[in-house]
Amino acid sequence: MKDLSPAIRTVPMPSDANANGDIFGGWLLSQMDIAGGVIAAKRCKGRCVTIAIEAMKFYKPVYIGDLVTIFASVSKVGKTSMTINIDAFSSRQTTGEEVRVTSGTFVYVAIDNLGKSRNVD
Ligand SMILES: CC(C)(COP(=O)(O)OP(=O)(O)OC[C@H]1O[C@@H](n2cnc3c(N)ncnc32)[C@H](O)[C@@H]1OP(=O)(O)O)[C@@H](O)C(=O)NCCC(=O)NCCS
Repeated sequence: MKDLSPAIRTVPMPSDANANGDIFGGWLLSQMDIAGGVIAAKRCKGRCVTIAIEAMKFYKPVYIGDLVTIFASVSKVGKTSMTINIDAFSSRQTTGEEVRVTSGTFVYVAIDNLGKSRNVD
C-alpha cells in the first residue's frame, strides 16, 4: 500500500453487493469519486464537481466486510480543472491480505456558489 494518508476509508455492506455477493462496481466508483472530491476540494479550497472520468480499471473484486482504503492525489491543475489520480485497496476481512482493487483518473472543476466554474488559485 502507498505510503500516504488515505483520502477515505470505508467498509462495504451487504446492501452494496450484487446477486453474487460481490460488491457492485458502481459502489466502488462512487467511493472513488468521493475520495477524489475530498482531495480536489482541498486543492481548490472550496466547492468542486466531477466533470469527467478519464480512466477506470477494476483489478480485483471487493467483498462485503473488506476495509477499503482510497488514495487520491492531484496530477494536474488547469485553469478551472483538477485531474486526480485515484487508487483503491481492499484489506480482506478474513485474511488481512491487501490488494489493489481499482485505479482511475477523475477530473473535477472548481465552482462558485452559483455552480459556475471558477479559477483554481
Ligand atoms: C462543471 C461545470 C460548471 C463546468 O462548466 P464549464 O466551465 O462551462 O465547462 P468547460 O467545458 O469550460 O470546462 C471546464 C474545465 O473542465 C475541463 N473539461 C471539460 N470537459 C472535460 C472532459 N471531458 N475531460 C477532461 N476535462 C474536461 C476543461 O478543459 C476545463 O478545464 P480548464 O479550465 O482547467 O482548462 C459544468 O460542466 C457542470 O455543471 N457540469 C455538471 C457537474 C456535475 O453535476 N457533476 C456531478 C454529476 S452527478
